[in-house]
Amino acid sequence: MSSTRNLFLVLIFSAIATGISAHNITDILKDHPEYSQFNSYLTQTKLADEINSRTTITVLALNNGAMSALVGKNPLSVIKNELRLHVLLDYYDGQKLHQISKGTTLTTTLYQTTGNAPGNSGFVNITDLQGGKVGFGAAAAGSKLDSSYSKSVKQIPYNISVLEISSPIIVPGILAAPAPSASDVNITALLEKAGCKTFASLLVSSGVVKTYESAIADGLTVFAPSDEAFKAEGVPDLSKLSNADVVALLEYHAASGYNPVGTLKTTKKPISTLATRGPGKFDLTVTTAGDEVTLHTGVASSRVADTVLDSTPLAIFTVDNVLLPTELFGKAPSPAPAGEPVTSPSPAPTIASPTPAPASVEAPSPLAASPPAPPTGTPAEAPADGPSDGPAGSENSTADNAAVHVNAPALLAALVTVICSALLS
Ligand SMILES: *[C@@H]1O[C@H](CO)[C@@H](O)[C@H](O)[C@H]1NC(C)=O
Ligand SMILES: *[C@@H]1O[C@H](CO)[C@@H](O)[C@H](O)[C@H]1NC(C)=O
Ligand SMILES: *[C@@H]1O[C@H](CO)[C@@H](O)[C@H](O)[C@H]1NC(C)=O
Ligand SMILES: *[C@@H]1O[C@H](CO)[C@@H](O)[C@H](O)[C@H]1NC(C)=O
Ligand SMILES: *[C@@H]1O[C@H](CO)[C@@H](O)[C@H](O)[C@H]1NC(C)=O
Repeated sequence: MSSTRNLFLVLIFSAIATGISAHNITDILKDHPEYSQFNSYLTQTKLADEINSRTTITVLALNNGAMSALVGKNPLSVIKNELRLHVLLDYYDGQKLHQISKGTTLTTTLYQTTGNAPGNSGFVNITDLQGGKVGFGAAAAGSKLDSSYSKSVKQIPYNISVLEISSPIIVPGILAAPAPSASDVNITALLEKAGCKTFASLLVSSGVVKTYESAIADGLTVFAPSDEAFKAEGVPDLSKLSNADVVALLEYHAASGYNPVGTLKTTKKPISTLATRGPGKFDLTVTTAGDEVTLHTGVASSRVADTVLDSTPLAIFTVDNVLLPTELFGKAPSPAPAGEPVTSPSPAPTIASPTPAPASVEAPSPLAASPPAPPTGTPAEAPADGPSDGPAGSENSTADNAAVHVNAPALLAALVTVICSALLS
């Protein structure tokens, strides 16, 4: 009985922990040298991560000949948008292509999810033509159905289907779009517009914006706390920090490397930040639940809220909470609600309350063993039961939203406990 139980535990736990899908588009295409260009661009643009983080999708692969028409002299950001148009957010295999109701449909693509697709340029028109031919074209008015289905490459029902089409689906608007060069991007202006004025002004006053700018060329991912985040309970008084600590805190809000959301979702190792000076220092861990991505500092966690910019090599996101590194703030900047076992080494797998977990329940980081700098706020200042994870808690409290604020290991343990007792009772 107990070994059965253990087996269940292991199976269920690994199913949950693995989380995202089992497919790997790079690996699927690796065995087909005729798509090597297409595959290489999926990797360079990190669209491969985005594809791997989704299910129920169809990838319209282009062979090396067709790919050369797309690549031309276009910059990577333009190629990326074009390739996004070749990832359909629905599952089509050869059979389904021939069974489209009324013979024609518009299907949503990854390009639509960027929020930057004008008109219906984020959609692809699939039409079952006479003679068994299936045509593909941009949905934009006046576009031709000048690409067609060639053959099936690989199907993993109903997670991913890879089909070859004869030529690229071109939206003239995308190819004509001037590629914003990363050096043209005004980070502070973008942040101000996205509701992160406090963060933007701190970057400027501390000079850290220069560090950000010089890191862009090698890839940069910014996690910008919203203005509300700085007003939340438990945020240390920054005016009481030394200049060096403010700099480290701000550098901690940017990861080295370009990590669009699909990459964050598939990231399993801790990611280093611009504050990282040695292995395991000032890093962030990432967890994903459905479409929600959560960053964990070791002190507390924060939801990744919105994408402000996703343009290779720079990604900018807003986050709900100020990210407090353990190196500066120890385990718990805001005191635990009365009775909360702050120092408990293992998260208690209680299922009692799916309410947002207080920051102090975060799994302790091994780094916290070194004496943490005391937070500026004193324990008495924090309310006994105020949500310490920022304004997000007050927003759309759907089950999904609530779940991502709960300490992930505790949530998993709780789920496993519930499922196992249901199965075994
Ligand atoms: C499809 O994806 C789910 C996760 O989203 C995964 O559990 C399952 O194993 C995948 N199916 C196949 C056949 O790979
Ligand atoms: C996907 O497959 C490629 C090629 O086999 C491999 O290099 C890569 O690490 C795999 N990615 C993941 C996330 O497993
Ligand atoms: C797809 O394009 C064809 C040809 O331009 C057009 O006749 C058809 O109405 C379009 N389909 C949809 C769903 O808009
Ligand atoms: C960037 O935007 C900020 C705020 O909008 C402005 O003050 C600054 O001059 C701009 N920088 C450049 C280089 O244009
Ligand atoms: C909350 O819901 C509103 C309306 O349904 C929506 O506009 C908003 O984007 C949602 N916010 C979040 C953080 O999900």
